[in-house]
Amino acid sequence: MERNLPLCIVLALLVPFSTLSLVNAEVTDISTDKQALLALKARISHDPSNLLANNWSTTTSVCSWTGITCAGRHHRVTALNISNLALTGTLPPQLGNLSFLATLVIKNNSFYGSFPEELAHLHRLKYLSFGFNRLSGGLPENIFYNLPNLEFFSLPFNMLQGKLPSALSKCKKLQILSLSFNYFTGVIPKEIRILTQLKRLLLNNNKLQGMI
Ligand SMILES: *[C@@H]1O[C@H](CO)[C@@H](O)[C@H](O)[C@H]1NC(C)=O
Ligand SMILES: *[C@@H]1O[C@H](CO)[C@@H](O)[C@H](O)[C@H]1NC(C)=O
Ligand SMILES: *[C@@H]1O[C@H](CO)[C@@H](O)[C@H](O)[C@H]1NC(C)=O
Ligand SMILES: *[C@@H]1O[C@H](CO)[C@@H](O)[C@H](O)[C@H]1NC(C)=O
Repeated sequence: MERNLPLCIVLALLVPFSTLSLVNAEVTDISTDKQALLALKARISHDPSNLLANNWSTTTSVCSWTGITCAGRHHRVTALNISNLALTGTLPPQLGNLSFLATLVIKNNSFYGSFPEELAHLHRLKYLSFGFNRLSGGLPENIFYNLPNLEFFSLPFNMLQGKLPSALSKCKKLQILSLSFNYFTGVIPKEIRILTQLKRLLLNNNKLQGMI
């Protein structure tokens, strides 16, 4: 008898479990945010005021850490602002796991290395301020395809090079784009013209050609 369970009962038993495991695989929570921020802390090689060393303690809630704002129904990290701290370090790929992040400010430190492609996963990102650091390498084209809320994108005074990605034009809400004082080359992509919300475009002190 047990071997001949009707098919509908077998399905009824299986479906809820398989749905559950699919959902579980994608769940992120505040501990995901904590892991991402600890990955960032681990990449800091010089912290002259020992601010992160003392304050970003694993025994306290990330939401109480300096530079961190939590908000929303899920109480997740929505802003990371560690500007003006004279930090030296690199940016870990785990930053792309801060899935509720809207504001990301690391302005005026000594972050070096490349711009993490994983930031492409931050669909809620509105405000990115990386100016006055020592970031190098190019701006990956594919980061711009899925940042529909980006309004402020500012990276002046770094050492970024390569072409300006034409995919910047996918960020339809962009209001401020500042890439001055880098080593960008090539022609300014004509697609930038379709950014109708753009209020300020700063591209000076690069090796760019062309007109807008
Ligand atoms: C970290 O700094 C914040 C203020 O920015 C403060 O409220 C909090 O108590 C500090 N936490 C620790 C463990 O020092
Ligand atoms: C980031 O923090 C600095 C002070 O630490 C503040 O002046 C600045 O307005 C903040 N930026 C944003 C976008 O919240
Ligand atoms: C950059 O940060 C340093 C402290 O690390 C501060 O003294 C300086 O005024 C800041 N510069 C700007 C332009 O905010
Ligand atoms: C976070 O990001 C890293 C690298 O991008 C990845 O290996 C890791 O599995 C991600 N997920 C969590 C939950 O930390």
